[in-house]
Amino acid sequence: MEQIRLSGIVKSYGKIEVVKNLDLTIAPGEFLTILGPSGCGKTTTLRMIAGLEEPDQGVIELGDRVVFSRNDGVVLPPEVRGLGLIFQSYALWPHMTVAKNITLALKEQRLSKSEIEARLKTALELVQLEDFAKRYPSELSGGQQQRVAVARLIALRPSILLMDEPLSNLDAKLRTEMRVGLKRLHRDLEATTVYVTHDQIEALTLSDRIIIMNEGVIMQEGTPFDIYHHPANLFVAEFIGDPKINLFTGAIKAGKLDCGDLTLPLADEFADRGGEMIVAARPEKIAVSYKAKRGWQQVAVEIVQPTGADTIIQVKVGDTHLTLLQSGFITLDEGAPLWIDFDLSALNFFDPKTTKNLRPAS
Ligand SMILES: Nc1ncnc2c1ncn2[C@@H]1O[C@H](COP(=O)(O)OP(=O)(O)OP(=O)(O)O)[C@@H](O)[C@H]1O
Ligand SMILES: [Mg+2]
Repeated sequence: MEQIRLSGIVKSYGKIEVVKNLDLTIAPGEFLTILGPSGCGKTTTLRMIAGLEEPDQGVIELGDRVVFSRNDGVVLPPEVRGLGLIFQSYALWPHMTVAKNITLALKEQRLSKSEIEARLKTALELVQLEDFAKRYPSELSGGQQQRVAVARLIALRPSILLMDEPLSNLDAKLRTEMRVGLKRLHRDLEATTVYVTHDQIEALTLSDRIIIMNEGVIMQEGTPFDIYHHPANLFVAEFIGDPKINLFTGAIKAGKLDCGDLTLPLADEFADRGGEMIVAARPEKIAVSYKAKRGWQQVAVEIVQPTGADTIIQVKVGDTHLTLLQSGFITLDEGAPLWIDFDLSALNFFDPKTTKNLRPAS
């Protein structure tokens, strides 16, 4: 197991700085996900670790080897960095069968024939392509080609795995299955893994730690639990969570938080604070009652969307619109009254000026 360390990494294309002074240490065996919107610099970062792109400044270390250092003039090419890669475009050799694509690198490593056969079999099983070994890439669907690329990586058993949106071409069901497969693979290989995605579900389900990136800058790094429950700023709060987090502005007045159509009690820690705060409430953290309850606030149902196991309920009170998430398949009439209550301990509060969380993860 090897550690990956990036120090002071800067990368520009022309005048645009796409990665800005990035410091990042990935522990041996850790599964780290870089999550962020399109164009934020995820692929560029991964390509620099792989050696497919040169940073303008900084140092990259894999294990105890410096593989890139601008100041010392060290630039190791990708093939000697000892990594396994899957990229957004996962090039398979078109003139080789699936089996050959998967075993090529193993033959180059001069592994025994029986070892190669065994690894091929395990890898094909994991991606559910046991019957496709003799096919050529042109005879496979996009999703199947992607799974061959994953199988090739599995068979290689590298100590460092770099994956760029490896599940992007798969349908929803297969993606869920492959997620389980990747998690199991990571557990078995114990490879230090950097995984790039813009899919928050993949990030939350797979990772030991998540980096949220925006415009080449780390907005937050933390465990999936912390990122979800204690977003460091409004960007992260809005980026993570589906359905989206509820945000509304409240003014601190007479020991309460006056949010216009809603009034919330003020947590003790803000008793001496004046001015405004932005309140953030996850849809599933707002309690719902179908009957009036003392102290709860009445709202009206607007739109109800049962998704099977859960139901998303859009409600409004005055001009304030809120999203609620309840478990179970729920049907309600438009306009029906509901009563809601906020659990103060589950709310986040943000400074409207700095957009920072006033109650950061401890
Ligand atoms: N070779 C290049 N020349 C010029 N600009 C580039 C080059 N490669 C990437 N960029 C720009 O750098 C920025 C970061 O690109 P990058 O591919 O790292 O984004 P990303 O986070 O992987 O996005 P996506 O989720 O869409 O894959 C983008 O604005 C992109 O247009
Ligand atoms: Mg990308």
